[in-house]
Amino acid sequence: DMAALQGVEKGSVRLAILTTVKYVVPKLLGSFAAAHPGIEVAMVVGNRDTLLQRLGANRDDLYILGQPPQDWDVVCEPFADNPLVVVAPPSHPLARERAIDPRRLAGEPFILREPGSGTRATMQRFFDALGVPLRARLEVGSNEAIKQTVAGGLGLAVLSAHTVVAELALGELVQLDVQGFPLLRQWHVVYPRGKRLSPAAAAFKDWLYAHRDQAVAPALRRSAPARRARGRSA
Ligand code: PGA
Repeated sequence: DMAALQGVEKGSVRLAILTTVKYVVPKLLGSFAAAHPGIEVAMVVGNRDTLLQRLGANRDDLYILGQPPQDWDVVCEPFADNPLVVVAPPSHPLARERAIDPRRLAGEPFILREPGSGTRATMQRFFDALGVPLRARLEVGSNEAIKQTVAGGLGLAVLSAHTVVAELALGELVQLDVQGFPLLRQWHVVYPRGKRLSPAAAAFKDWLYAHRDQAVAPALRRSAPARRARGRSA
């Protein structure tokens, strides 16, 4: 019977996720634990550099991160879209403008993530490629704290859209319509190629893929019409 089957399932999973993924995956853990009471999940949250270091040292079973370096011998499966957006306080003069030229952001103060953050590296690459110098107003090592400083009027920021779903819905922040944005990135489930997944880790990975649509905010689901329209113009 079911109870006997569940009792057979034992083990633990060590999971390492990006700071941006923590807005999506942790809410799946409750239902996973209910369905697999014999499996223990431990979770570490870190930025891109931290996760790559942990992956290099083989410290966890599964990683959810952006794009691992091309020459690493890892299994890498697409998990979900991770679009990056420009956010501002609602009172910002650019808030009502459409198709803003990114060069107009040259004079704006920006709140930046810490070095080692994939979000920061990606936005830096975008503005560097256009020859737009960024004015760093403040460096903050947390998506949450950056949202508060932007809402408080200290500057603009580029953040994963997953991190600002609630603030955009409440009108505490607005998304600026800047040409080239959202910057389209993807999260992947990654693990060393030579490492056979334990039954517990394999069960968790299957669970993740089966339930990811519930975890991702409706506006950010791949099939959402609004999302597709934005993707095309980027
Ligand atoms: P990070 O995560 O900015 O915390 O590194 C996002 C990413 O790498 O996509």
